[in-house]
Amino acid sequence: MIPEFAYRGGVLHAEGVALPAIADGMATPVYVYSGGAIDRAYRQLSRALEGLPLDICYAVKANGNLAVINRLARLGAGADVVSGGEMQRALAAGIPPSRIVFSGVGKTRDEMAAALDAGIHQLNVESVPELEALSEVATTKGVTAPVALRVNPDVDAGTLKQITTGTRHDKFGIALDRAPDAYRLASGLPGIVPVGVAIHIGSQITRLDPYDRAFRRVASLVETLRAAGIAIARIDLGGGFGIVYQGEAGFDATGYARLVRDIVAPLDCRLTVEPGRFLVGPAGLLLTRVLYIKTEAARRFLIVDAGMNDLMRPALYDAWHDIVAVTTPADGMPGELCDVAGPVCESTDIFAKDRRLPPVAAGALLAFANAGAYGAVMANSYNARPLVPEVLVAGDRFAVVRKRPTFADSIANETMPNWCTVRPA
Ligand code: LLP
Repeated sequence: MIPEFAYRGGVLHAEGVALPAIADGMATPVYVYSGGAIDRAYRQLSRALEGLPLDICYAVKANGNLAVINRLARLGAGADVVSGGEMQRALAAGIPPSRIVFSGVGKTRDEMAAALDAGIHQLNVESVPELEALSEVATTKGVTAPVALRVNPDVDAGTLKQITTGTRHDKFGIALDRAPDAYRLASGLPGIVPVGVAIHIGSQITRLDPYDRAFRRVASLVETLRAAGIAIARIDLGGGFGIVYQGEAGFDATGYARLVRDIVAPLDCRLTVEPGRFLVGPAGLLLTRVLYIKTEAARRFLIVDAGMNDLMRPALYDAWHDIVAVTTPADGMPGELCDVAGPVCESTDIFAKDRRLPPVAAGALLAFANAGAYGAVMANSYNARPLVPEVLVAGDRFAVVRKRPTFADSIANETMPNWCTVRPA
């Protein structure tokens, strides 16, 4: 784990805060973020990319909590958003519209209108029909939309098959060979100014060669477009920077920066990157308590109070999250092979199978590591479980940055129509 999550006196801390203090104060499950770790990741990236004409637009989808976005806004980050809701979150958290890029394969006309009204920096458009819709929306408003076309460089980024995006079989972007025609069309459409090219080849990428290939294809596209008289002033390189979940090589920010310098910078464009996971993933953990220990057919199950509705990645992608005990056992106690399961009534509500964990008793606290990205944002309230709360730590302070909804909160938007025949007691 990262230095911001460390054991002191045998107890896991987030910076200066002992995790049991959080669990006792507000019950579990709860996400805990280290503000210092977010800052450190941002600074590491911005240092590696220093000197390039480049904006770091945080991909809000990784963690949309206002306090988290605000933390990054304070450091100078812009935002990459994929819905009207994410755009409003970014604005509410203090990111100026001039630093927001609006991506996404299925923007509605209302979302396009809201983006144009807010005056956001750029819309990344993924298809010709979307371009035509945006042209109509912009013309009705009497404005012009600054557009980058997202092209699909047909590069396999070697990630989990569920999250690959950059091959021609994926739903994202416009195929490279069709891109020049799309740009020609865009140049002629009222209300549209094609200003740039965008790519995003996948997520949790731990090698540099897919970026190398994708950058070269983009560079050659930009040259083709320029030769055809289409001015390209911006390139959005997307995100995807991987983190260490299970012994992978970490993302090589310096090597990445070298590729950008060598292949992309000579095109003399304003650049954007859209990292999400890299900035917030390692900075978060999900704190949970062991409810019961149950042994069935020689399998030892730790039943914890977090479920697949709180952290969906293991059930959805078979993803690995390290699981650690918050209080270290006495030295020399052997680990035990366990299945770690949640309380949700689904067989897929399993976080780990045959995982060697330190011996813990019912009531012990565990933490799932690397849960700051695609954790809380993907949570839901299946089984009428309250949406999991979130806490931000900075030094020896912590604040609840999203509280656990009450039962009244969770039914607040529901009504029983007056033609219901059965009245509640
Ligand atoms: N830009 C675009 C256009 C994207 O689609 C994404 C992620 C990002 C940036 C940020 O990617 P990152 O730097 O975080 O890898 N739920 C999955 C990940 C889905 C990623 C979707 N797009 C997971 O839990 O692994």
